[in-house]
Amino acid sequence: MSGIEQARKTAGDLEHSPGFGNEHTSEAVPGALPLGRNAPQRAPLGLYAEQLSGSAFTEPRAQNRRSWLYRIRPSAAHPPFVRIGNGAVRGAPFTETVPDPNRLRWNPLPDPAPGTDFLAGLWTLGGNGDATRRTGMAVHLYHANTAMTDRVFSDADGELLIVPERGGLLIRTELGLLAARPGEVALIPRGMRFRVELLDETARGYVCENYGRPFTLPDLGPIGANGLANARDFLAPVAAYEDIERPVQVINKFCGNLWAATYDHSPLDVVAWHGSHVPYVYDLRRFNVIGSISYDHPDPSIFTVLTSPSDTPGLANADFVVFGPRWLVGENTFRPPYFHRNVMSEYMGLIEGAYDAKAAGEGGFVPGGGSLHNMMSAHGPDRDTFERASAAELKPQKIDDGLAFMFETRRPVTATAQAAGAAHLQRGYDDVWQGLERHFRP
Ligand SMILES: [Fe+2]
Repeated sequence: MSGIEQARKTAGDLEHSPGFGNEHTSEAVPGALPLGRNAPQRAPLGLYAEQLSGSAFTEPRAQNRRSWLYRIRPSAAHPPFVRIGNGAVRGAPFTETVPDPNRLRWNPLPDPAPGTDFLAGLWTLGGNGDATRRTGMAVHLYHANTAMTDRVFSDADGELLIVPERGGLLIRTELGLLAARPGEVALIPRGMRFRVELLDETARGYVCENYGRPFTLPDLGPIGANGLANARDFLAPVAAYEDIERPVQVINKFCGNLWAATYDHSPLDVVAWHGSHVPYVYDLRRFNVIGSISYDHPDPSIFTVLTSPSDTPGLANADFVVFGPRWLVGENTFRPPYFHRNVMSEYMGLIEGAYDAKAAGEGGFVPGGGSLHNMMSAHGPDRDTFERASAAELKPQKIDDGLAFMFETRRPVTATAQAAGAAHLQRGYDDVWQGLERHFRP
């Protein structure tokens, strides 16, 4: 059985622990999880107890995240970490270029060289904030054609929201296995070790690295107790461990740089765990889309799946927003996204199909590509979309030809040098908004 076939079989048999923000419990071997205490004098089955903190010990209960791990060897048993090459990974603060007020759009990354795994294929587009201050975010792309073998990754700088666009991923984490295919997203919490295998010959997608407070579900206000992303649709793994005694490289992204130490065993050796600092997957097709049934359409914040709050109420460090299939029924309403200048900065990507306001332009807005509309840059529908939507008969209309998303963030995104100078940067993107005619008749 090939590696991909094996990974597919494994992915097809996965069990999950559902819920968002839960206090989950799981054990791969009966009796491995201590009852009634976290750190007994001797943990069951000769395991080591270790806490992984995702929040300060003293943060309010609603924000507090930690998990207790019962593992074959403690994470502490390792030689020194040493710097390795960063490849195409960059970190905050982003200072390679000056922040650019222009609207930018990229075609997909070119195909990777043979033998590129998820980590080797991680390519930073840009970001903001400062990883050492635990604020801001980064936009990465990835492309891969081989499984990570005998090496695992962890990101001390932030959590990783992985958005597959092409090819499925089998993600082996310390807490168990998850599969994420296009249309689903996976979140790896800060500091958690994981390894990525492939469910298809190639994989490609996007990553939001969140340096700030962990993503959580947005408050619903007058929407009520249900709607948008429902908590029960988030799936954490169940415990699964590797008992492998051979060298495994652990690569740690720390304050923007990659460091590596070779363990003499697999660190994915957690036999049981309980807690709230957990990885999860979510199927974007489960998103309960809410919109207008009278006129206008709500601001796109209505499509928020996950939000990373800042210290200012309502102001997100980063939001993850999805534009999925939905009905448009607004009367006397310009139905595509409106013309807009935003204090927030918007990176948009496309998982499949097309996006209703972005048909035109060299290369177009295509799956695997992306656009960046930084703070106060003017954007909106192109000429053809404007003319068509202004004249359209306003029958109920189903938008079902694509799945787009946005990473929206409070600070401008500064591109990396490799993104600002990329051959796949579309040089003629501004042309999208050429030819918008004067209609004023005083
Ligand atoms: Fe916008």
